[in-house]
Amino acid sequence: MDTNIQLIDQAVEYIKAQPGFEKPEFGIILGSGLGRLGDEIEATAILPYSDIPNFCKATALGHKGNLILGTLSGKPVVAMQGRFHYYEGHSMQNATLPVRVMKRLGVGTMLISNAAGGLNTDFKVGDLMVIEDHISFLPNPLIGENLSEFGERFPDMTCAYDKELISAAEKIASKLGIRVQKGIYVAGTGPSYETPAEVRFFRMIGGDAVGMSTVHEVITARHCGMRVFAMSVISNMSNDTTESRVLNDADDVIRAADIAGENMSAIFKGIMESF
Ligand code: HPA
Repeated sequence: MDTNIQLIDQAVEYIKAQPGFEKPEFGIILGSGLGRLGDEIEATAILPYSDIPNFCKATALGHKGNLILGTLSGKPVVAMQGRFHYYEGHSMQNATLPVRVMKRLGVGTMLISNAAGGLNTDFKVGDLMVIEDHISFLPNPLIGENLSEFGERFPDMTCAYDKELISAAEKIASKLGIRVQKGIYVAGTGPSYETPAEVRFFRMIGGDAVGMSTVHEVITARHCGMRVFAMSVISNMSNDTTESRVLNDADDVIRAADIAGENMSAIFKGIMESF
C-alpha cells in the first residue's frame, strides 16, 4: 500500500506538471459560500479535485471542488475552492492531504476562511471574525505515524494564528472601513448543528464562533511550519434556547457567507499585497 508521503507526492507531481506552474507563495482555503475569491485568481490551471491523484471528492453544499493555480494580488497562489470536512466521512489524514501538498509545492503562508455560527452575543450575521485561537472537538489530524519530513511529533500551538498577519488584517480592515471582530473559534464534527445546551457550553468555555472545519487544516499547516491566518464569516447566530424561532438552515448560511465574502476577499488580498 502507498504511504502517506507517496500519496502526497503523487498529487504534487500532477500539479507541478501543469503548464505555467509557478511555485505558490500563498495557499488559500475557501469555505462555504466563500468560493468567489477563487474566480478573481488569474488562473493558469483550474483542476477539479476528481482529477488530482488522492484528493477526496468535495461533497459539501456551497463547495465547488477545484484547486486553482495562478496569481492573485500579484502573488503566485494555490487555492482550494471548497474543502474537505470530517463530517463528509473523510479520514483526517485524507482531509488534510491538500495542506501538505501545498507545503510541498512551496506555500509559506495559508489564508483560511469558513462560515461559522456566532456564539458571542455582540456579533451579528454578516460580521467577519479574525480567529485568534481555537478550541477543538475534532479528532487531531496528526494522530498516527508522525511524518517527520513535515514536522515534529508534538508541535507547539501557542501561536497557531500568526500575530503579524492578524495585526495586518486589522489595519487593512480599518483602512477599508470594514468592521472585524476577533475571537476564539470552536470546532465540532457536525454535521448536526449545535444544541442550545452545547451553544451555552461553548460560550462558557470562551468560544466566540462555532464551525465544523478549519482547525484540522490549521494544525496540519502549523505542524509543517506554515504561517496561518484564518477568518470566519458569521453566517448565523447560534441558538441558545430551545424557544428559538429562527432555526439553523444551511441555505441561509451559504447566502450570508456569500454577502460577507466580498469583504473577506478584500482583506485576504490586502494581506497578500503587504507580505
Ligand atoms: N454551527 C456549526 N457550523 C456552522 C454554523 C453553525 O451554527 N454556521 C456555519 N457553519
